[in-house]
Amino acid sequence: MKRVLNVETPNYINGKVKVSGWVNVVRAHGKILFIDLRDRTGILQVVFLPLAFTIDASAGKQETEIYNKVKEVRPEWVVEIIGEVVKRPPQMVNAKIPTGQIELVAKELKVLSEAKTLPFDVGTDGYETNEEIRMKYRYLDIRRERMHRNFKIRHEVFQFMRDFLSKEGFIEIETPNLTKSTPEGARDFVVPSRLQPGTFYALPQSPQQYKQLLQVGGFERYFQIARCFRDEDPRADRQAEFTQLDIEMGFVDREDVMEINEKLMIAIVKNLFPEKQIQQIPFPKITYQESMEKYKTDKPDIRSDKSNDNLLAFCWIIDFPFFEKSETGGWIFTHNPFSAPKTEFMDSLMKQKNISEILATQYDIVLNGCEIGGGSIRNHKPEALETVFEIMGYKKNRIKNNFGHMLEAFSYGAPPHGGIAYGFDRFLSVILKEPNIREVIAFPKTGDSRDLMMDAPSGIDPKQLKELQLQLSPVKSSRKPAKKISKRKK
Ligand code: AMO
Repeated sequence: MKRVLNVETPNYINGKVKVSGWVNVVRAHGKILFIDLRDRTGILQVVFLPLAFTIDASAGKQETEIYNKVKEVRPEWVVEIIGEVVKRPPQMVNAKIPTGQIELVAKELKVLSEAKTLPFDVGTDGYETNEEIRMKYRYLDIRRERMHRNFKIRHEVFQFMRDFLSKEGFIEIETPNLTKSTPEGARDFVVPSRLQPGTFYALPQSPQQYKQLLQVGGFERYFQIARCFRDEDPRADRQAEFTQLDIEMGFVDREDVMEINEKLMIAIVKNLFPEKQIQQIPFPKITYQESMEKYKTDKPDIRSDKSNDNLLAFCWIIDFPFFEKSETGGWIFTHNPFSAPKTEFMDSLMKQKNISEILATQYDIVLNGCEIGGGSIRNHKPEALETVFEIMGYKKNRIKNNFGHMLEAFSYGAPPHGGIAYGFDRFLSVILKEPNIREVIAFPKTGDSRDLMMDAPSGIDPKQLKELQLQLSPVKSSRKPAKKISKRKK
């Protein structure tokens, strides 16, 4: 007999079906026993009648057996049940669930898997449970209805984005995870190379350089749902490993990129979250200076009514300064060294004068006070890009070693281009009103960047170290938080 999903059972009234799933609850009403059976589609009420209640006397022995067997069954056991779908008596109808009009009268019960008592109740939303325990038993924590909802929506938003961008002529291209450092203002995670001993790959902080190289390769409309890695201290809106929706476009100016992204955001809200209202369309554009003066932040929460859970106030922050003074007194980029200055500041950039006044083509997109994305138009002229590094005090050799490939690529006919990247987890957590991005990531790290479930990071076999030609020096404390590298906006 083929398994039927819980949600499909109302199509089989008076018919026999086989269902399977987890025991959500076992309840007794006098002599009648109930199991709320949970599968990926929801809950189904299953009734176990004692012999005295059964009409079919010939089936009596079997039914007594399963009635006795169900008394043993505990929450979270995995079971398979064959039974008859019947309409519930009117007073028993539950309008809140899709199977609330019916119930399954059990005829056969098979235990597929028993379960120990769980370390916490998965019937709650989980906010009250200790974080370390939730993360250690994440595979149980994600059994919660809220987590199923979050990951289903995450999937739907991905699907929607893919579909939307494909229709707009974008193609999805994957870029490497074993790569070279790209400056995004955080520390790199590094991976030692066995075949080139003494050398290291860096995990990408973003696909920034690759997406620009794809432009040189003629892929005028690129996107990727990209995993990014930044060795920085986690916070409610920050993880060491996170996901970006990364976009790059050729032959565009700032307004073109902002326009298509605004269209994407509006379409996501209208199609997937119709209960939400966008406060203002087109999204207001606020200069960095105005935002700092008026709101004292470059991520202003401009909602007119902060108590309205369905209000989404998007805005763009533009005209950021390109450079700021670093801790050592030199210049450092505020957002992205690959950005172009606004056209009227190109002359200052090339002449390396009035550096503090140069404004970048950078735009950040902010939603309800959270920076959900950012991007810019890039410097596609090699001499302009080189000048940015010179302003930051990089010597010719360092520029050549670190960015020679970019400068060379731009000397073979690079189109003007620009793009954006969204912090996908952040965007989703704001929309879903989750207090922490961990709630929308299946297997996130703890507040000190550990995976308690897998016990990572962990030591490695001395044999592996030898193969990699690595030697460890004694460590004082492996749990010491990393110091933040200077970057204003992070
Ligand atoms: P940026 O560094 O601003 O730009 O990153 C883009 C967006 O990614 C999100 N984000 C994070 N989310 C979770 N955890 C983190 N540690 C984290 N760090 C950043 C933020 C941020 O707005 N390459 C450029 C984009 C471009 O110019 O196209 C970049 O990565 O929501």
